[in-house]
Amino acid sequence: MSATSDTSIGPQRVLVTGGAGFIGSHTCVELIESGHDVVVVDDLSAGHAAALDRVREITGTRPVFERVDITDAAALDAVFRRHSVDAIIHFAARKAVGESTEIPLDYFDTNVGGTASLLAAARRAGVHRIVFSSSCSIYGSTGAHDLDESAPTAPANPYAWSKLACEQMIEQACRYHDEQRAVSLRYFNPIGAHPSGLLGEDPHGTPRNVVPYLAQVAVGRRERLQVFGGDYPTPDGSAIRDYVHVVDIARGHVAALDHVDDQPGMQLFNLGTGQGTSVLELRAAFAAAADRDIPYVVVDRRAGDVPRLVADIGAVRRAWSWKPEYDLATMCRDAWRFQKSHPEGYRR
Ligand code: WQD
Repeated sequence: MSATSDTSIGPQRVLVTGGAGFIGSHTCVELIESGHDVVVVDDLSAGHAAALDRVREITGTRPVFERVDITDAAALDAVFRRHSVDAIIHFAARKAVGESTEIPLDYFDTNVGGTASLLAAARRAGVHRIVFSSSCSIYGSTGAHDLDESAPTAPANPYAWSKLACEQMIEQACRYHDEQRAVSLRYFNPIGAHPSGLLGEDPHGTPRNVVPYLAQVAVGRRERLQVFGGDYPTPDGSAIRDYVHVVDIARGHVAALDHVDDQPGMQLFNLGTGQGTSVLELRAAFAAAADRDIPYVVVDRRAGDVPRLVADIGAVRRAWSWKPEYDLATMCRDAWRFQKSHPEGYRR
């Protein structure tokens, strides 16, 4: 354990599944800087081992890394035997809305099957605290109002359905095992990068999410952005999302760890900014950050998308000290700094 810590529950050894991924690696930085020890479990199907080297460059500490598929129960048991873990932050999942409509069964296997496997291995190892990476997409289409945690869930795609199913499994585990504690973080659209420019978003293959795609257009790897839908019931016709800085999201996970024992069962919190931004507004903001034009074409809507998803974050602001620190311009500037210094991502 580290000697110093500014976390209220004291230094913990945290197992971070998907810790070599975009949000996971940023969370490793914040965990280490808060005095925790980190063990990363990742199969590198979407993440990069290089990201863990960057975590070390930023914090001076490289997380312990176990290259494991979380659906492999024996491998997970071996990880828990090798490391005395106090809590889990569970990111490992497939996470692209559009892709999930193409390969739904793979999403159920990885996201739902993987979470069930992790919960069972954790219980066998006597680890009873988990922070779960959930998603605003489980709310479905919401019309013009912002969403608080009491909003009805209406998953509009297999990715969202898989996240809701995982929440329900975790909630049931907490209901029937008194010692089990959980926080599920329903975050909106994490974007941006660590301000150092050393850590960022580098999806394998063609980016499914809008900001890495925008960044690759800006750096010249892609010709233009396809805007999925120009006929939504929004001011400029493009869909609205609540974009939130990935470092804010990462700090939200550290706060969740501090509060997982606040009450029995599973706690639910939205993580967002409460600000809605359309795809066309985002494109303009990114072009300003990159100081260059970003060509685009408006095409048909993407399967599984909804017109608007914006958070009401009143609950998390009342319960914890967490609040978003960074605005959209900063998110775009930080994302561009990483992309500009890594035109081909971590690979070069
Ligand atoms: C955003 C908007 C697209 C690509 C993401 C994550 C999911 C969850 C919620 C955490 C939509 C449009 C996209 C493109 C476009 N986060 N778009 N052109 O679907 O809101 O979900 O945030 O759990 O994991 O996937 O994000 O970036 O794919 O799309 O016009 O090339 O951008 O239609 O309106 P989404 P996204």
